[in-house]
Amino acid sequence: MTDKAQRHTTSGGGSLIGKPVDRVDGPVKVTGTATYAYEVAEGPSAFGFVLGAGIAKGRILEIETGLAERTPGVLHVMTHLNAPPQPEFGPAVTPAVREVFTRARPVLRDGRIRHYDEPIALVVGETFEAARAAAALIQVRYEEAAGDFGLEERRGAAYAPQRTNAGFDTDSAVGDFDAAFAEAAVRIDMTYRTPYQHHNPMEPHATLAIWQGDDVTIHTSAQTLSNFRAGLAATLGIPLERVRVISRYIGGGFGSKLIVHADSVLAALAARILGRPVKVALTRQQMFANAGHRAEMLQNVRLGASADGKLLALGHDVWSATSRVEEFCEQTAVFARSLYAAPSRLTRHRLVPVDLNRGEWMRSPGEAPGMLALECAMDELAERLGLDPIELRIRNEPDLDPERGVPFSTRNLVACMQEGARRFSWERRRSEPGSLREGRKLVGLGMAAAIRPNYIGAAAALVRIDAEGRVSARLDMTDIGTGTYTILTQIAADALGVPLAAVMIELGDSRFPLTAGSGGSWGAASAGTALLRACEALKRKIVTAVRTQPGTPAQNSGTDDVTIAAGAVRFGERTEVLAEFMRRVAPQGLDATGSVEAGASTESYRAFSQHSYGAHFAEVSVDCDTGEIRARRLLAVIGAGRILNAKTARSQILGGMTWGLGAALMEESVLDRRYGCFVNHDLAEYHVPVNSDVPDLDVVFIEENDDKANPFGAKGLGELGVCGAGAAIANAVYNATGVRVREFPLTLDKVL
Ligand code: MOS
Repeated sequence: MTDKAQRHTTSGGGSLIGKPVDRVDGPVKVTGTATYAYEVAEGPSAFGFVLGAGIAKGRILEIETGLAERTPGVLHVMTHLNAPPQPEFGPAVTPAVREVFTRARPVLRDGRIRHYDEPIALVVGETFEAARAAAALIQVRYEEAAGDFGLEERRGAAYAPQRTNAGFDTDSAVGDFDAAFAEAAVRIDMTYRTPYQHHNPMEPHATLAIWQGDDVTIHTSAQTLSNFRAGLAATLGIPLERVRVISRYIGGGFGSKLIVHADSVLAALAARILGRPVKVALTRQQMFANAGHRAEMLQNVRLGASADGKLLALGHDVWSATSRVEEFCEQTAVFARSLYAAPSRLTRHRLVPVDLNRGEWMRSPGEAPGMLALECAMDELAERLGLDPIELRIRNEPDLDPERGVPFSTRNLVACMQEGARRFSWERRRSEPGSLREGRKLVGLGMAAAIRPNYIGAAAALVRIDAEGRVSARLDMTDIGTGTYTILTQIAADALGVPLAAVMIELGDSRFPLTAGSGGSWGAASAGTALLRACEALKRKIVTAVRTQPGTPAQNSGTDDVTIAAGAVRFGERTEVLAEFMRRVAPQGLDATGSVEAGASTESYRAFSQHSYGAHFAEVSVDCDTGEIRARRLLAVIGAGRILNAKTARSQILGGMTWGLGAALMEESVLDRRYGCFVNHDLAEYHVPVNSDVPDLDVVFIEENDDKANPFGAKGLGELGVCGAGAAIANAVYNATGVRVREFPLTLDKVL
């Protein structure tokens, strides 16, 4: 199948928002007819294979490509010596928020090596196998330099960045933290370590580049097309208008596909040189060095409380590794500014430079690692106070956002905790750790809060109805597996009163109206609001058409007499099937656009603290002899505004909970500090939960409607599922064993 729009079919009906509608793209996905970037067939492609550096720092003295060039089937070998000119790397410090996504990221620009496995050559062949075989014949001589890879021992070299990711302040301070902490009756002062982690979407980073004259079309796997397009145009040094990006189907992103990577740059450069389409994919192993990661962090949490469990001082300090190539400061302590009341507060982010590739956004940047620390520290404080962990949190529930001083749009954290406690039989938890035993197993229960900011990104949509009454909508939005096609189908069908099957959503083409794409859990609400407004504008056009149509009873009457529902237009006493009406009144079809502005620039975001909330519950067993930790059941109770599709929303949370399980018990990229490479760089050795690791999962949504967030009352939830999920498991492990592990992941050796 080509990149032509594919019609999705579905069953369903009725009032559509919130319904657990099956994925409209399900059939093409499960039948293998959904075309991913590397599968797109547009003429005979050549295949590129990326050769990476064998050192982590230094420069290339000599690179011998003759053997590779003479290998049968090889078309071209590109190195820094013959690559087309590209702009310089920008400054390594955090640039303005948007520029992070759109700046030039040249590849093979010079002979410098900045990180292990950095691309040093691209071999292009008639087949992938020819290119790969030839790449192995390239001889390289390096001048190697010593790199820095440690975090803990180099904390003295830490510096404060100008801002964190997403533009948050690096530090925040309220009251006098030091004095309040010193005077507190009960104090917790704990340091937690979280490891390097890698996102591993099933579909690796892959690109097909096709030039026609000076125009390039890039089929790739990207989350946010407008940013990707700008970043690629900047890297290639060509005008934006010359670049078209297409990402119809995407096999997962998780933040690793927000910016341009080497596959796209090299495919575009090589395709232009060869005058034919070129495909380049990163291998799974290459992704560990070339597609972002979450950095190793140390987090110091200091909590000072009164004897009755009121927080007086809350401090959260983060030290994170960051690349010398390009700074990335995960906003790890930012959520702590909104979660619990405490009159004196301090949050700080510090960076320690290392010689690795840049860190990137990885599922729930900030909260995912940050809540592992703070929500464990809250558990430690509760025990010290002799309080139930839920009771401690309730006693510190703020009336206003504790640092911004503004009201919450909606905040149902307490309701989520109480509902969860009831459903999870929380009363079974023993406050004395290590006291619940079933044979050889120690059993424990734990919980943690969840919080995640609600973002809205600027977005626009175009919607059209044709003479047959069929609705189609176009946005440069993406569906990274989250269910965007489905939710947008529901929104358009609901708004225009047509069946789901009458709607075709077209996404993933940079020629369509610009959206904020998929990321930061803003996708559904941002694109959905733009589409809703487009549909409302279209509806007004239909109504106007009704009213200006001679001979209809509705002519010159108020719009109230005109309704569109169940695929029909009703005006006055008369009902006409929408398709017949369109053929009669507007046979050329009607279209309309709608848009939404970025939330950060609107009054309702300035005036309200907008977050999604939840509560995670975990029951684990720990084998007394082997230390084996098994999760037995997990529950998430979620308050994230109105739910647009109960099924896809639940799937998002299930995925997040599973991710939390991995973060708590398994995930760790092991850095060899001698060579600066991740040694477990594949899915055999980078452990993630498999089916038999994942227990009974339960997800409950609290009834909620956030009218400050957007017209749907919906808030972001894609990344909420992982926030706090790992801490709930870690707290359950402590409750089971009495062993508090502050170094993630909690592998069995650490509890024995
Ligand atoms: Mo988000 S970090 O794009 O999953």
